Amino acid sequence: MEFPFDVDALFPERITVLDQHLRPPARRPGTTTPARVDLQQQIMTIIDELGKASAKAQNLSAPITSASRMQSNRHVVYILKDSSGRPAGKGAIIGFIKVGYKKLFVLDDREAHNEVEPLCILDFYIHESVQRHGHGRELFQYMLQKERVEPHQLAIDRPSQKLLKFLNKHYNLETTVPQVNNFVIFEGFFAHQHPPARKLPPKRAEGDIKPYSSSDREFLKVAVEPPWPLNRAPRRATPPAHPPPRSSSLGNSPERGPLRPFVPEQELLRSLRLCPPHPTARLLLAADPGGSPAQRRRTR
Ligand code: ACO
Repeated sequence: MEFPFDVDALFPERITVLDQHLRPPARRPGTTTPARVDLQQQIMTIIDELGKASAKAQNLSAPITSASRMQSNRHVVYILKDSSGRPAGKGAIIGFIKVGYKKLFVLDDREAHNEVEPLCILDFYIHESVQRHGHGRELFQYMLQKERVEPHQLAIDRPSQKLLKFLNKHYNLETTVPQVNNFVIFEGFFAHQHPPARKLPPKRAEGDIKPYSSSDREFLKVAVEPPWPLNRAPRRATPPAHPPPRSSSLGNSPERGPLRPFVPEQELLRSLRLCPPHPTARLLLAADPGGSPAQRRRTR
């Protein structure tokens, strides 16, 4: 991916790490330094173009990575450049990976809810002309080292088929733990309960965490799936050919693969009837319809 300005001078290192401040890295000694504002504008252009290319590669209706989204989130983007064979040129960008910590509710093997804040893979793209050349792995590996995480500690925001194959091939990640949100986690996620996949204190105010709205891809949604547990998908040992395993999560966007069909109304009602009533509801059903004031207060 080439740009009308000197990418090689802008990013002296092969991999550049940028946070929400989008600060231009220090330049190599001897290179002319344009105004800082111009450098930042160049960085913003690169991020916007990478975001667009990634969205196109994933069939998304809009980019999930842009300079303005970077500035308003605490995400980190790792950008891989290519300066080989272009000593007289301006260099090129090979791809990027965007990561960030997110508060999530995730289910463990016993289907218990856990509040965690893992590092999430939010967007990942290598230019089409150089995919399957090992660049993705180089970038991913660098990110793992810098963030000090193991691959099984990550949560992945609706991985594409290519990414699932990539994770399987390079990191042996295969068996997923079924979830009800957009994120995919793999077996071993709960094996080490040390940061960064830290369990949060058990008691938190309701509404503090919005587990179903924390995906970066949420804004792409045009339809809503039925609520848990009607949208549960079985655990898959290997990534299926079709559709992508994002079907195990809530809020899949149609842009990146077909939504699972809505549960027909009759089936929905049958499932609801099968759900045992909550103990409090049982108490209320058994009680006088008026109930005591204390009871009414508890109910509220
Ligand atoms: N089909 C199937 N598997 C693929 C493909 C493909 N077209 N491309 C890469 N892979 C997987 C395979 O396991 C492959 O190994 P193989 O060639 O032996 O089969 C392995 O990745 C290659 O590893 P790298 O060369 O290190 O990976 P690459 O540089 O291609 O980067 C990436 C991987 C980022 C997934 C890249 O293919 C890409 O940009 N794809 C399009 C965008 C995309 O799907 N991004 C992920 C979105 S989901 C998210 O970001 C959370």
